[in-house]
Amino acid sequence: MDRIRITGGRPLRGCVHVSGAKNAVLPALAASLLTDAEIRLDRVPAVRDVETMLRVLGHLGVDTERQAGAGVTLRARSLTDCEAPWDLVRTMRASILILGPLVARHGRARVSRPGGCAIGERPVDFHVEALRALGAQVSQEHGYLEARSDGLRGAAFTFERVSVTGTENALMAACLARGETVLGNCAREPEVTDLAQLLIGMGARIEGLGTATLRITGVESLHGTRHVIPPDRIEAGTLIVAGALAGEDVEVEGCRPADLQALLERLRYCGVPLTATDSAVLVRRPSVLGAGGVTTAPHPGFATDLQAQFMVLMTQARGASVIRETIFENRFMHVQELRRMGARIRVEGHDALVEGPTDLSGAPVTATDLRASASLVLAGLVAAGETIVHRVYHLDRGYERLDDKLRLLGASIERLGS
Ligand code: EPU
Repeated sequence: MDRIRITGGRPLRGCVHVSGAKNAVLPALAASLLTDAEIRLDRVPAVRDVETMLRVLGHLGVDTERQAGAGVTLRARSLTDCEAPWDLVRTMRASILILGPLVARHGRARVSRPGGCAIGERPVDFHVEALRALGAQVSQEHGYLEARSDGLRGAAFTFERVSVTGTENALMAACLARGETVLGNCAREPEVTDLAQLLIGMGARIEGLGTATLRITGVESLHGTRHVIPPDRIEAGTLIVAGALAGEDVEVEGCRPADLQALLERLRYCGVPLTATDSAVLVRRPSVLGAGGVTTAPHPGFATDLQAQFMVLMTQARGASVIRETIFENRFMHVQELRRMGARIRVEGHDALVEGPTDLSGAPVTATDLRASASLVLAGLVAAGETIVHRVYHLDRGYERLDDKLRLLGASIERLGS
């Protein structure tokens, strides 16, 4: 199993390019199930979750082909199966995204029910309720969710709580439902808007993009299209935090600063020198970093997927910061590992209290979640001596060679085989 070795203390300098967004490409791949025509996606990141989704789709009978230049073509001409088996779903919860499109176009879907995961219980009841509202019969037995329908019907449905993939599943299903669907309390994450844009490119009729209410008028069928996946705002945010920790002028380019407002606002508050253009952020380490708390929230609030990385930054800030996690109940696994590196952090319920500044010292560390792993890599950049991050496969699920990108900026970082 790969590990990453980082020797801390090297300044970062130069320009780094952001890859396509993992959380945008996963629903986009699932959307290929809605049509028998070809979908071409560009700027598809080479990350393990994409491989897993391509395997799930291949299992269902979708022809998938990687093209030069990070392109993927998909064609769901006729399906050989309607089931996503446990051995694929257990490695990636986002496999649940096939449920809506499959039942909408093929009248049947069977998906192994995802279990809890390292960051929390993560139920899928909202996905099920939304599909039921559209007229699907959904049952659960032998660990599988099975949805059936002889034609979905438009309906009004309001999510009890904001759910990103729940919104995406319902949105995809509603595109082929008869009549009008109004989805309330929808997630407003840029990845949801991007999915809506892809679906519109396929012939769907959707209004209210970027708002909490999506109105969908169902159509008979959808057609093929070509679509460019947006830049990954979480990867961009991770690299910006790296710049704030150790940068002597780092340019994170090919991103959308407009999608990163909550992070940029907090960094400025803490005294991090930043310049944002339409598609890049220039950042460097401040001479004095101030403390600042954050509370995670659905977009446009502070992203839970950047909470661990921001916490590492706060270990270097002067003063105390409270970091409140409101999205997932167990997303502080990085705290124990950061403490082993010398950080002073106390967890009280949903709050982590960080006292800074602390001199971190390199250590062997491990994490069981993607963003926690990224935070440990960031900590390694400023820790004295050597940090070895184990179980790098978590990082590779969602970051396209983060180690290579940081090395190009000047970090002393290398990947070690098992
Ligand atoms: N929830 C329910 N019932 C449901 C669905 C969600 O109670 O049926 C709860 C969850 O347990 C959680 C909250 O609602 O407490 C929000 O969860 P959400 O459904 O929005 O999360 P998700 O769609 O499963 C996506 C991202 C996550 C990201 C969250 C929150 C994808 C593929 N995954 O997950 O990304 O953290 O939204 O923004 O889009 C990551 O990339 O590392 C990652 C975990």
